[in-house]
Amino acid sequence: MAILKIYKYGADILGKKTKKINFNLLEKKLPKIIDDMTQTCLVMDGVGLAGPQVGLDLSIAILTIPQKQEGKYKRYVLINPEITHKKGSILSQEGCLSFPGLVVEVERATEVKVQYLNEKGLPVELNAKGFLAIVLQHEIDHLQGITFIDHLSSDKKQKALDEIKQLSKQW
Ligand code: CO
Repeated sequence: MAILKIYKYGADILGKKTKKINFNLLEKKLPKIIDDMTQTCLVMDGVGLAGPQVGLDLSIAILTIPQKQEGKYKRYVLINPEITHKKGSILSQEGCLSFPGLVVEVERATEVKVQYLNEKGLPVELNAKGFLAIVLQHEIDHLQGITFIDHLSSDKKQKALDEIKQLSKQW
């Protein structure tokens, strides 16, 4: 396993819609990509990581959701995920490994239904609410070239950009 370089705010790849994965074509390469992304996410203390954040123009994201028992996490591997239903609205405090130090309040749906392929290439339909639903929306946004600051009103986004300018001196 390897720790991958994380692309931060300003990298072009974070603003681009990713390519869908042809599972059969990429099947042999996927286990290493998935292992490396998982390891990178855990080491960086993240709960999710999307392809573009590690320089991959591919529709893949992994989630490492902490469980009640300390040190345990549940991993989700999402290949070509799509949100097919959204319900409700909640304000959520979010950070992102591509924006170290920045926390902003983003409006999200409270419940989502997501369709994707898992690491075996099998189709999955997941109904999620609460924290899992929020992380899913954040990561699937990345695959569309959307980051959390894109959900802010223009004045709040400007404030966030000013903060990023300061924070990025430490990156
Ligand atoms: Co992010």
